[in-house]
Amino acid sequence: RGTAPGALPLSGRHVLVTSGPTHEPLDPVRYLANRSSGKQGHSIAAALAALGARVTLVSGPVTVPDPDGVTVMRVETAREMLAACEAALPADAAVFAAAVADWRPADPAPQKMKKPADDAAPPLALVPNPDILATLSRHPRRPRLVIGFAAETERVIEHARAKLARKGCDWIVANDVSGDAMGGAENTVHLVTANGVEDWPRLPKVEVAARLADRVAEALA
Ligand code: CTP
Ligand code: CA
Repeated sequence: RGTAPGALPLSGRHVLVTSGPTHEPLDPVRYLANRSSGKQGHSIAAALAALGARVTLVSGPVTVPDPDGVTVMRVETAREMLAACEAALPADAAVFAAAVADWRPADPAPQKMKKPADDAAPPLALVPNPDILATLSRHPRRPRLVIGFAAETERVIEHARAKLARKGCDWIVANDVSGDAMGGAENTVHLVTANGVEDWPRLPKVEVAARLADRVAEALA
């Protein structure tokens, strides 16, 4: 692709990033969620923007600040996150770093649930949420490069390879969370692709983000 002198490597590219958890309401005051600070996903959005990409960041509820120079779409639930991602297409690449709740309460109560007099716990019926990564990987307007994350506590590479195949994405950033990665500032990841596995050293999340952004730029060049 002809790049004007001085242009950044991702100038003219649109990249979609998901980040943070989703919140799935049980009633107006309670929800089901994954643990996720949004640090890794937000850092990736910032790193892609720093390379010149137009970035749409679809974020669940987080307290980390919006990165500069990025369009942020705020959502609560997995279904809202999927809709926002589809609305953001077309994109050249997509990075799915969000910790999406796999299930949601089947029948959220319109009013706050009250404790019954007999102290019994209410039954909790769950239904599966849509898989955003798998849906976008098989989408008619699929981004050319689709990247998923996999947070694992054991058999990290094996699980990541299985996810790569099952979800139909191009790369999986496999995240070893057996230590303290959740919410921390550092991450130990392995980049799993059809060509093999790259082990990255333990790095600050902003460095993981910068490396991944460089790899995205190479792949789209
Ligand atoms: N993901 C998604 N939508 C979901 C669930 C997961 O987009 N409903 C994405 C995540 O953002 C991540 C990848 O899929 O990029 C892997 O998520 P993970 O939870 O590790 O995979 P699951 O298929 O949900 O498998 P499990 O939780 O059983 O390990
Ligand atoms: Ca999951």
